[in-house]
Amino acid sequence: MKKNEKLTCHCNGVSKKSIVHAIQKGGAVDIADVQRFTLAATGCRRCFSQVEVIVNSEIERLKLVGFQLKIDFKDNA
Ligand code: FES
Repeated sequence: MKKNEKLTCHCNGVSKKSIVHAIQKGGAVDIADVQRFTLAATGCRRCFSQVEVIVNSEIERLKLVGFQLKIDFKDNA
C-alpha cells in the first residue's frame, strides 16, 4: 500500500485498491474471500459494510465486463 492511499479498513491497513486487487488479480469472488486474502473487516468489523459495498460493486462491474466478453463463436460457424 502506498503512503497516501486512503484506508478502508483501519484495523488492518487495507485500502480500497487492495480490495479491488484481491478481486481482480487474486480471484476473490465474495466478501469472505476478500477478508481471507486482505484481512479487511476481520478486526472490529466497523468497516464491514463499506468493504461489502466495494466488493459487490466490483463483482457486478466484472460481471458486466465478463458478460460482454463471453461470446461463443462456435455457434456462429
Ligand atoms: S476498521 Fe476494518 S476491521 Fe476494524
